[in-house]
Amino acid sequence: MRILGIETSCDETAAAVVTAEGEILSNLVLSQLEEHRPYGGVVPEIAARSHLDHLDGLIARAMAEAGLGFEDLDGIAATAGPGLIGGVFVGVMTAKAIAAARKLPFLAINHLEGHALSARLTENLEFPYLLLLVSGGHCQLLAVEGVGAYRRLGTTVDDAAGEAFDKTAKLLGLGYPGGPAVERAAAAGETGHFELPRPMKGRDSLDFSFSGLKTAVRHAAAALDPPPDGASPAVRNLAAEFQAAVGDVLADRCLRALASFGADYGRPGPLVVAGGVAANHYLRARLTAVAAEAGAGLLAPPPWLCTDNAAMIAWAGVERLRLGLGDPLDFAPRPRWPLEQLRRPQPETAAAELGETNP
Ligand code: KG4
Ligand code: ZN
Repeated sequence: MRILGIETSCDETAAAVVTAEGEILSNLVLSQLEEHRPYGGVVPEIAARSHLDHLDGLIARAMAEAGLGFEDLDGIAATAGPGLIGGVFVGVMTAKAIAAARKLPFLAINHLEGHALSARLTENLEFPYLLLLVSGGHCQLLAVEGVGAYRRLGTTVDDAAGEAFDKTAKLLGLGYPGGPAVERAAAAGETGHFELPRPMKGRDSLDFSFSGLKTAVRHAAAALDPPPDGASPAVRNLAAEFQAAVGDVLADRCLRALASFGADYGRPGPLVVAGGVAANHYLRARLTAVAAEAGAGLLAPPPWLCTDNAAMIAWAGVERLRLGLGDPLDFAPRPRWPLEQLRRPQPETAAAELGETNP
């Protein structure tokens, strides 16, 4: 089985071809970084136009690199939400057009499910597992029971972890995109020079909060003399303290979640981390230690599979298609689409629907 995956939900235009055996035949990611950089963040209208300009050419290149024609494919998977809706439309319309013209199954992929299943593309990972999903828009702990079967254990009550990295980078004059810039600065700094809070640490729930930490970074940055304008020693130390605070909070929440997961499912994990923030090497090391403390393993996709890409979307397509699932060509893209709204697949119904609605 070979699936073409398309990702256009934020500021990366991406196309990839993946097989059911987990072979990545091509995986292209075109970053729009330079187009958004002057604005210090993603501008939805610019993103949508750029996807429109580049997607067709990128798909042609992904197919050529895979050495395949459309006739060799078994399905087309595209991110259908959640995300910036203009961009999502570009990807979904393109996927539907290819599916209709080539009489192939169309798979409307939830971007978060793409992240959630990504570790199964590179690792030998069985259901159920405990997932820490940390991206630019989300910070959640989920029990992943199967494809389409997610139980949310905790979530952020305000900002996402990636958002906190991005805002911290802005406050410290480290530029855009924030996550990798903060990680670089932190690696050259040391902790112990600033006092920052560890929101939610020790609380009974499995929720997160990052807005208090962001405010504390803002106050600390405002008190810097001279003001932060790049990686001065004080900026590097503040970045290191911020990253350590995030690490402490994630470690505390994951340890608690591992205990709760163990009680519910009768096994200690494994703990899986996914989403852009999971590319952070310091946080991966912290989570490895936490998992070991709970007698579990940590499974993390390689960093290039953590940040947005189309291989994870194609893989989610593989996972769905081999369960007999597909989506109708009138599937409407969704700007908001929580994982818990995906239902556990009913293969018989799904196969029937696929036969009826896809050409
Ligand atoms: O999953 P992703 O690529 O896009 C979304 O679906 O949101 O995640 C992007 C987020 C951004 O907030 C970015 O700053 C963060 O992931 N990120 C990182 C690192 N690389 C990306 N955060 C911390 N350390 C990194 N190395
Ligand atoms: Zn993402």
